[in-house]
Amino acid sequence: MIIAVDGPAAAGKGTLARGMAKSLDFAHLDSGALYRAVAYAMLRDGTDPSDREAAVAASRHLNIDLIDAPEIRGEGIGKLASAIAKIPDLRANLLDFQRNFARHPPGGVAGAVIDGRDIGTVVCPDADVKFFVTASDEARARRRVLELEGRGAPADLETVRADLARRDAQDRNRTAAPLKPAPDAHLLDTTELDIEAALARALEIVAQAHGR
Ligand code: DC
Repeated sequence: MIIAVDGPAAAGKGTLARGMAKSLDFAHLDSGALYRAVAYAMLRDGTDPSDREAAVAASRHLNIDLIDAPEIRGEGIGKLASAIAKIPDLRANLLDFQRNFARHPPGGVAGAVIDGRDIGTVVCPDADVKFFVTASDEARARRRVLELEGRGAPADLETVRADLARRDAQDRNRTAAPLKPAPDAHLLDTTELDIEAALARALEIVAQAHGR
C-alpha cells in the first residue's frame, strides 16, 4: 500500500506522514530530504549553487545516508533545495529511489508513506491514498519558528513567513512537477487541528479507503 502526502512547507505533512507510518507499521520517506541532501552536498563541496550541471551531477552521486543528517535541516539548505528542485534532470535522478522505496519499502513492511510536493501527481500517481495537507500562512510560519527554536536555531516570525511564501511560490510555479494537489487527493487543512487530531482524521480516511 502506498500513501502519498503532499503540501507546502511546514503544513504538517512530515509529522502526519511519520505518524501514519508508525501507526500502520509502514516505512516513511521524507522526499524533501533528498533535495535537501543534494543542496547540502553542493554547499559542502563548494559547488556554485547556480551551476545547473553541477547540481545534476550532485544528484547523480548522492550519498543516500545524508537524508538522515541533521545538517540538511537548516533554512538555507531548504531554500537551495527548492531552487535546484526546478531542474528536470535532477528530479529525474531522484525518481527511481522514491519509486523503489514505494514499491519495496525497507524492512519488508506492507506499505510506504512518502511525503513531498509531487508524490501523488508524479512519483506515485497510482498511490492508494493521497493527501494534500495545507495550513494558513500564519500557522505554518509559527510552526516552523517553533521547529527551528527546538533545534537551537531561533528565527524571526516575519522572516520565516516571507521565506516560506517565496519557497512555496517557487515550488508551485515551476514547470517540472509543480506543487499541486492530485485530482484524487484528500484535502486536509491542519490550521485548526493539533497533531493528534490531524493524524486521527488521516487514519480514518485511510481506513475508509482501504478497510484497514
Ligand atoms: O519538504 P522540504 O521543505 O524539506 O523540501 C525542500 C524542498 O525540496 C522543497 O522546497 C521543494 C523540494 N521538493 C520537491 O521539489 N519535491 C518533493 N517531492 C519534495 C521536496
